[in-house]
Amino acid sequence: EEVHEKATMLKNIDTIQIGANVVRCWYFSPYPADVITGRHLYICEHCLMYFSSRPFFQMHIGRCLPAPPPGNIVYYDKENRFVCYEVIGAENRFYCESLCLLSKLFLDHKTLYYQVDTFYFYVLCEIDDDGTHHLVGHFSKENYSMNNLACIMVLPPYQRKGYGKFLIQLSYAFSCREGFIGTPEKPLSDLGKVSYRGFWWWLLINYIDEGGYEDDINVVELERVSGISSDDIISTFEPMEFVKKYKGEMCISMSPTILKFCKSLPLFTGPKLLLDCDLIQWTERY
Ligand code: ACO
Ligand code: ZN
Repeated sequence: EEVHEKATMLKNIDTIQIGANVVRCWYFSPYPADVITGRHLYICEHCLMYFSSRPFFQMHIGRCLPAPPPGNIVYYDKENRFVCYEVIGAENRFYCESLCLLSKLFLDHKTLYYQVDTFYFYVLCEIDDDGTHHLVGHFSKENYSMNNLACIMVLPPYQRKGYGKFLIQLSYAFSCREGFIGTPEKPLSDLGKVSYRGFWWWLLINYIDEGGYEDDINVVELERVSGISSDDIISTFEPMEFVKKYKGEMCISMSPTILKFCKSLPLFTGPKLLLDCDLIQWTERY
């Protein structure tokens, strides 16, 4: 039984072809065994249907309309370079399950939810010159959860261009709008950690700078103004030993000199793609 468990977790797919990209996979993903006959998968980047057989895939591509993801637009970039859609799990089961399966190829630790019914998916696409959408990545968000993000994945060919931090900003815009302090579902992967830590650091240093605080800053106060949870604030500043306990309350202690120094560090680069809140198209959910 246990041996079987381990065997099933071994990487089952080496490469996928999605859109114009051939991508090397990182981890096991539970694609249905009756579909998978080899170690290479063809995935339609529009409807996310997957194939082991090249002829079947090509037949599909010939018929499948290059439609955008099945949902409403929630964000349209000013220069029309990328767009984000809200896809409702319960209304688009196959699409969302396929998105989870695809994501799992690049996620180690997450237990895959086949139960997509209680999730919303925010799907990001690049738009090329003729208007065709290319899948970049997504994050998922569970209904009635204190996590403003369950899972985030950007396909390797699109990584390190700022899309990850863009989606993270969007997840905070949603939780702020809903009026709760959000936090990503734990544990974070290593790449999840670098993205979040970098984002929190940049955002919090900015709030501290703009706040013009004379004294130590109460973590609860910083949580209120920034929308970042106390735990995440503490985890951001703890390694630098900026966290102090004062009269039983957690504080961030940062002199003007240290603040200036922090702003000069290379770590202090803001997101490559800044979210413009005015461009969010609020759906009925928000
Ligand atoms: N090596 C070192 N640092 C990296 C790397 C890398 N390979 N990739 C990203 N980073 C760091 C950089 O600091 C980068 O910022 P910078 O380029 O401005 O210096 C920062 O992470 C974020 O970069 P983005 O371009 O905004 O993010 P990206 O589009 O690459 O997406 C993501 C980040 C979603 C985590 C992506 O790496 C990914 O999909 N990884 C696989 C799946 C995963 O681990 N997801 C997170 C799981 S945790 C959770 O879901 C709650
Ligand atoms: Zn298709």
